[in-house]
Amino acid sequence: MRLSYFLIPMSHKLTVDLGDRSYPIYMGPGLLGRLGELCKGLGRAETCLLISDKNVDRLHGEAAAMSLEKAGFSVLRAAVPAGETSKGHDQLCALYEQAVEHRLDRSALIVALGGGVVGDLAGYMAATYLRGLRFVQAPTSLLAMVDSSVGGKTGINLPQGKNLVGAFHQPSLVLADTDTLKTLPKREYLSGLAEVVKYGIIRDAEFFQWLENQGVSLRDPAGGGVEELVARCCAIKAEVVGLDERESGLRAILNFGHTMGHAIEKVGGYGAWLHGEAVALGMAYAVRLSQTVRGFPADEAERAMTLMQELDLPVKRPAYDWPELRKAMAVDKKSSSSIPRFVLADRIGAVTVGCEVSEEKLEAVWNGMKS
Ligand SMILES: NC(=O)c1ccc[n+]([C@@H]2O[C@H](COP(=O)([O-])OP(=O)(O)OC[C@H]3O[C@@H](n4cnc5c(N)ncnc54)[C@H](O)[C@@H]3O)[C@@H](O)[C@H]2O)c1
Repeated sequence: MRLSYFLIPMSHKLTVDLGDRSYPIYMGPGLLGRLGELCKGLGRAETCLLISDKNVDRLHGEAAAMSLEKAGFSVLRAAVPAGETSKGHDQLCALYEQAVEHRLDRSALIVALGGGVVGDLAGYMAATYLRGLRFVQAPTSLLAMVDSSVGGKTGINLPQGKNLVGAFHQPSLVLADTDTLKTLPKREYLSGLAEVVKYGIIRDAEFFQWLENQGVSLRDPAGGGVEELVARCCAIKAEVVGLDERESGLRAILNFGHTMGHAIEKVGGYGAWLHGEAVALGMAYAVRLSQTVRGFPADEAERAMTLMQELDLPVKRPAYDWPELRKAMAVDKKSSSSIPRFVLADRIGAVTVGCEVSEEKLEAVWNGMKS
């Protein structure tokens, strides 16, 4: 008995507490094999549409489909091209058409197997098709595991900007099989670590210290700490979402580093920086702004910068024109009346939202960053 206990891979379960829309998050290695059984537990669905992208479908689609079939589901599969361009109307309409063609009714279940692109697209399809189907998030990128699969934000991009169309639609279940991270390209994995560092800075000093203690070993998803890392990030996101589902207050802390991060993504040309890389640069900027505006202590600022560098995240100012960046910040979805509002750190583990900063300081802090 004791031996078998040690042979059971470490997995975690926690709940996003949203009353009658509460749902569990399962995290750990080897979980994809339990996808069918856990989906079956959700109730009456007999058919499911398994949505993935072509990379993930090739690597993990079969295992997911087999698990669902073994549990008695009739499984339809759809695989969109990999990448951000799939998060738009064309792929969304193709999914609606497939659903109509196969006569999916309201009892069907949508399963999103992939990174944030698949999760956002499939989630929005589930939110809107027949006025809403239940859906399951099975994230396979680090960013999707620690961030996008939890919280119910779904949506697509318009040619005019990212995430401009969307809906809050909570999943019925999140299942993060950390074994899938072994096939994730290294650059994608490292970029996901930016959101991980963010959680420490915005909410949990003890977690931040844990990250510092793990240090460079976190650069490798096989390094041993990844299950705990995913579990701790999900716990923070679940807590924040449980307290403020629709971002009327607290949830905005999750945007730390994102005001400048989004501007860098835009000015660099979408695709030049991965989302997490741009967020890391945005956090480096927010750390320096926090020192100037909120009295964020210098030693804590250095700890934040050192940790990001240890995790191979970019922190050096790219050579972009300030006026262009400033303009891009003004059109950020979260800005009000063109004035960017920042989430800034008071100390590690505590931030303040809605900070306005003078134009002079915004520019001076950017120019003062190491290039
Ligand atoms: N809904 C939210 O709350 C929320 C939060 C943050 C980000 N997002 C969105 O998430 C998206 C970014 O997500 P992402 O970084 O996961 O990008 P992504 O979905 O494009 O995945 C990144 C790349 O990794 C590949 N991939 C994913 N898992 C893999 C695996 N296990 N093995 C091999 N390859 C794998 C994908 O095919 C893709 O090429 C953006 O559209 C962003 O707007 C949403």
